[in-house]
Amino acid sequence: MNYRHAYHAGNHADVLKHIGLTRVIEHMKKKDKPFRAIDAHGGIGIYDLAGIEAGKTGEWEGGIAKLAEPLARDVEALIAPYRKVLHDLNPGGGLRFYPGSPELALRLMRGNDRLIANELHPEDAVLLERHLMRDGRARVTSVDADVCIKANLPPPERRGVILIDPPYEAKTETERALRMLKHGLRRFAQGVFMLWYPLKKDPVGEVLTSGAQAMGVAATLKVELRVREAFAGGGLAGSGLLILNTPWQLDQDLRLIVPALAERLGLGTWGHATIDWLVPPV
Ligand SMILES: C[S@@+](CC[C@H](N)C(=O)[O-])C[C@H]1O[C@@H](n2cnc3c(N)ncnc32)[C@H](O)[C@@H]1O
Repeated sequence: MNYRHAYHAGNHADVLKHIGLTRVIEHMKKKDKPFRAIDAHGGIGIYDLAGIEAGKTGEWEGGIAKLAEPLARDVEALIAPYRKVLHDLNPGGGLRFYPGSPELALRLMRGNDRLIANELHPEDAVLLERHLMRDGRARVTSVDADVCIKANLPPPERRGVILIDPPYEAKTETERALRMLKHGLRRFAQGVFMLWYPLKKDPVGEVLTSGAQAMGVAATLKVELRVREAFAGGGLAGSGLLILNTPWQLDQDLRLIVPALAERLGLGTWGHATIDWLVPPV
C-alpha cells in the first residue's frame, strides 16, 4: 500500500467527491429518521494543505484553491454546507485544513446519525482513530474495505450511505470495487452507494460504469468532471462518481453544480461535466 491521500487532498477529484457526499447527506437529512454513513476507505480524516505532502504535489491548487471566489448564487446555495465545514475548520480565514470524507460526514451529520470510518493502512488508521475518537457518533475500524462493507450492512438504522473510494493502485482494484458494490447491495439493497473512480487514459471508468449499469439498480447516476485531456502517462484528467439509489432530486443539484465546477476547474476549454442516468429512477 503506497497510496497516501495527504498528497492529493483538496484536488479536483476530492472537490467533486466531497461536494457529492455533502449533497447526498443533505438529502438524507430531509427525513428525521437517523442514518449511518460507512466510509470504507477513510484516509486520515483531516489534511494540512501547508504540510509537506500537499506541498510536494500542489494538487489542491488545481482544486479547492480555485473555489476561493464564489460560484453562481444558486450553486453556492447548494454547496453552502461544504463551504461551512471549510470555514469551521479554518476559523481565522484562508484555507489550511481540508476535511477528508469522514470529517466532512461527521460535521454534516446530526446527533443521532452514526459513522463507521474504515482505513486499512495501519499508520493512517491510527491517525484517523486519534482524530475521531472524541466524537461518540464515530467508530473507526482498520480492515479491508470489502470486510468492512460486509460486516456493517445492513445498518441497524436501515438507512445509510456507503462511500467506496479506493486508490486504484492495482489493476485488480476495479474488479474489487464492483465486487464490493455487489456484496453491499446483496446485504442492503436500499442503501445509497457512492463509488468514486479516476478518469485517465485507461478503461477503469468504462468498466465500472458498465458493471454498475448491469446491476440494474433503479436511480443509478453517473457523474463525471473532466478538467483536462487524458493521455497515456498523463495522470488524472478528471474523476467520476457512480451513485446507486440516488436520493430524489439529487441529480438536479448535480446538474447545476458539476458544470459550474467544470468551468472553474477545467484547464483552458477542457472543463467538461456529464451527468447521466445509467438506470433511471422508477
Ligand atoms: C482515496 S483515499 C481515501 C480518501 C477519503 N475517502 C477522503 O475522501 O478523504 C483511499 C484510502 O483507502 C485506503 N485503502 C487502500 N486499500 C484499502 C483497502 N483494501 N481497504 C481499506 N482501505 C484501503 C488507503 O490507505 C487510502 O487512505
